[in-house]
Amino acid sequence: MALKRAQRRQAVVEPAAAVEVDAVETTLRPRSLAEYVGQARIKEHLHIHMSAARGRSEPLGHTLLHGPPGLGKTTLAHIIALEMQSQLKVTSGPAIEKPGDLASLLTNLQRGDVLFIDEMHRLRPVVEEMLYGAMEDCVLDIMIGKGPAARSVRLTVQPFTLIGATTKAGAISAPLRDRFLHHFKLGFYEHAEMCQIVGRSAGILGVELMASAVSRVAGASRATPRIANRLVRAVRDFAQMRKAASVDLACVDETLHSLDIDDDGLDATDRRLLLAIVEAFAGGPVGLSTLAAILAEEEETLEDVYEPYLMQQGYLQRTPKGRMATPKAFAKLGRDMPQEMQRGML
Ligand SMILES: Nc1ncnc2c1ncn2[C@@H]1O[C@H](COP(=O)(O)OP(=O)(O)OP(=O)(O)O)[C@@H](O)[C@H]1O
Ligand SMILES: [Mg+2]
Repeated sequence: MALKRAQRRQAVVEPAAAVEVDAVETTLRPRSLAEYVGQARIKEHLHIHMSAARGRSEPLGHTLLHGPPGLGKTTLAHIIALEMQSQLKVTSGPAIEKPGDLASLLTNLQRGDVLFIDEMHRLRPVVEEMLYGAMEDCVLDIMIGKGPAARSVRLTVQPFTLIGATTKAGAISAPLRDRFLHHFKLGFYEHAEMCQIVGRSAGILGVELMASAVSRVAGASRATPRIANRLVRAVRDFAQMRKAASVDLACVDETLHSLDIDDDGLDATDRRLLLAIVEAFAGGPVGLSTLAAILAEEEETLEDVYEPYLMQQGYLQRTPKGRMATPKAFAKLGRDMPQEMQRGML
């Protein structure tokens, strides 16, 4: 049994979801909870629930992971499958086009397998409804035929763990959300954790970073591991071109400057976004669609990629009337806050 399980520990990527996986990115991905930096509460809960499920020889309960991009949702799904010694199947919401696609995915699962559905909020409603029965009772009701001859057939599926990941927890319907036993919200990483991640990635890539350089890279990474990894790879190239044996602060600064990332980790789009609110709308409020049009960005990109960090850092507020710049944003851009706004803040 143990051998069979070990043989199945490989991740299977569904062709429909064939996501381009960068080889270096894969080597940097932590492969156990112990290697996974930060998110202490999530790790603690997962450890308990996984140990308990293993003790009962049951799959882990269905788990929903949400949080901004690059914080480690996919990584966590891989770790759960590895630690549960289960086979992982990976797909994504938009890749499951029709109920038949879901039926074939689910009926091919073996007992204890982990099905990872990325971008869970983009599941089609017909597919989502079909998933309910599978999540709750391990059954699938599918319609065969059309018109008067149509009949419903009930199939059973093996007990499995569904891991859903989303950047938009609010966009998941309540019935679907309620069928997940565990809900974990990934938060931005603390500076010390980011330093640990930068140090770890540099170590794996064989890049020698001075302590001050580690801290600067960590501070410029928007509290996001994926960005930290990207920056470590960028500073490595700069150091190589300078023929420097180790990366010092000057090398990091040169890299950040060339990437247009400032000391607070904000990039050109972040600054353009704040500047648009501060200059064109006297600090706001301004609607998301207007901002997106001005910046020539997708609304979804602004909402999911840029705004969460700006809000977490206290540069931006989302209000019912629209987005507003905070005093910190005015200070960063070296602009005076309009008097009526200052009064409103009191
Ligand atoms: N806790 C962590 N410790 C160390 N490295 C991490 C951690 N979380 C993520 N990483 C690194 O960051 C990279 C990006 O993480 P991941 O792909 O899991 O993010 P994600 O939340 O799935 O993002 P998206 O929403 O864009 O799919 C990983 O390849 C991994 O190397
Ligand atoms: Mg992911």
